[in-house]
Amino acid sequence: MSGHGTPIPMTSRPAGPLNGTADVPGDKSISHRSLILGALTVGETRISGLLEGEDVLDTARAMRAFGAEVTDLGGGDWSVHGVGVGGFAEPETVIDCGNAGTGVRLIMGAMATSPITATFTGDASLCKRPMGRITDPLTLFGAQAVGRSGGRLPLTMVGAEAPVPVRYVTPMPSAQVKSAVLLAGLNAPGQTVVIEQEATRDHSERMLRGFGAELTVDETEEGRVITLTGQPELMPQDIVVPRDPSSAAFPVCAALITEGSDVLVPNIGLNPTRAGLFTTLIEMGADLTYENERETGGEPVADLRAKFSPAMTGIEVPPDRAPSMIDEYPVLSVVACFAEGVTHMPGIKELRVKESDRIDAMAQGLRACGATVDETEDSMSVHGLGQKGLPGGGTCQAHLDHRIAMSFMVAGMGAQKPVKIDDAGPIATSFPIFEPLMTRLGAQLVRSNA
Ligand code: S3P
Repeated sequence: MSGHGTPIPMTSRPAGPLNGTADVPGDKSISHRSLILGALTVGETRISGLLEGEDVLDTARAMRAFGAEVTDLGGGDWSVHGVGVGGFAEPETVIDCGNAGTGVRLIMGAMATSPITATFTGDASLCKRPMGRITDPLTLFGAQAVGRSGGRLPLTMVGAEAPVPVRYVTPMPSAQVKSAVLLAGLNAPGQTVVIEQEATRDHSERMLRGFGAELTVDETEEGRVITLTGQPELMPQDIVVPRDPSSAAFPVCAALITEGSDVLVPNIGLNPTRAGLFTTLIEMGADLTYENERETGGEPVADLRAKFSPAMTGIEVPPDRAPSMIDEYPVLSVVACFAEGVTHMPGIKELRVKESDRIDAMAQGLRACGATVDETEDSMSVHGLGQKGLPGGGTCQAHLDHRIAMSFMVAGMGAQKPVKIDDAGPIATSFPIFEPLMTRLGAQLVRSNA
């Protein structure tokens, strides 16, 4: 929901060893898509392991507003009785997507080819984020969008009365843009084609196929060409949501930088379009292993074991790996402070338009904790302090950004002095059990400026 309550300042004190098992929540990307695709399917879709974070709960509320019956069955199990492709009803009130860029962008795509009008809003962070990247391709289908300057929220989308299929080359590597176009293509006749130069997370492609849509992917000189045949009848599914690698990143990285730690993070989705952080950490010399590798529901899954790694070295992170670890650069920049030498992270311009400007937010906060960080428009370099580690002692701004807030709390676990943030409230958007889970492992998180 739009806006947050009273800020929750939080301090992370240097922790003893972190030990035990970290059962992180379900994948955020797959959770949003499960609800939206379930809502576009006639019949009952059952979802287990849904992430019950605020972002996804906002999407559940939105799907109800568009006419689907969405029921929380308890214990992470949910049921969605959908309305079918093209069956969305016109919402009676404004759709508030809170902090969720994925939620609002995918939902705009899903409704843009139905003859209904909807107005979208979000919190202060979401209302600053660019929506032109979504409304540009959606208007090609025949939809109309009127927002604030720069196409920002609040924004009203008038769905196309007679949608036409679209061929669209995504101008930036973005799974949200790709997915919005594919979801809009569901209710357009004929074939909608999306071409991406760099592969981004492919959950939409996998799940659309799983729900019975005809979708092909061809690797060509032009890029990755995704062709969707419109107006399919989607079939209800039983979905088991794998646990989120982007959430696993926090206990994994905390263990690597906190002396004596040994943490097991089971059942993590390791789709190659998401696993770039773990590859990078292993290249840095992290003691991180995959155990019990297997496949669940078409997605590769493993248990991750992370141990304290005092001998990591800084590396050059290949820019073409960025889409597969785009949400993990903030916490990687924390780990980089504990490595020997410089970690250079080029090709990360997209970080500037996430829930916050993540390059700036991390650079400012890490400097306040005693690190040396250089930034350019599309890169960040962290000068590692090696065995000495991060001094800490800083107060950092979370900028309404869950991943920035959690990254600084991880920094405090391995640092010499406590690290404070102004507001831990946004953590609930993606990782509502972060505080008890990390505390159980041995972290010392205090809700005050203590
Ligand atoms: C997401 C795509 C990524 C990512 C976001 C989730 C998705 O954003 O940062 O957290 O579920 O499609 P972009 O599509 O903007 O790269």
